Amino acid sequence: MPIVKFTKENKEIEVPVGSYLREEAIKAGINLNCGVNGYGASVNKFMNCKGFGMCGTCRVLITGIQNTNQLTKRELLRFKTPGFPPDPIPCLAYVGHEDNMRLACMTQINGDIEVESGPEVNLFGDNFFS
Ligand code: FES
Repeated sequence: MPIVKFTKENKEIEVPVGSYLREEAIKAGINLNCGVNGYGASVNKFMNCKGFGMCGTCRVLITGIQNTNQLTKRELLRFKTPGFPPDPIPCLAYVGHEDNMRLACMTQINGDIEVESGPEVNLFGDNFFS
């Protein structure tokens, strides 16, 4: 069974092949619906789309992304389409992390991975305004 290591939470869990990251994190008591740069996690824990890939609050960075399913169409829509719903944060967060950012609710685990919850969003960095 694959092992998922949550780096910020310093926790490892064993999960069934093909299980979804957000569901397994919830079972382990880990909130992946984080806020932006440390703010809003307590609100987003309850105010989110409940795993439909629409709110974008369950953004994570994954090491070992080859051990997950392909990026889904919902993730592409959420990461690349600003204003749907009117929330630019997932689009901003995706810039510079195209190779390892996923939505936890859309990510199926097929092998060992490391997960960074609530990755920082560089609101004023070179990537966004360049
Ligand atoms: S829970 Fe809303 S996008 Fe994952």
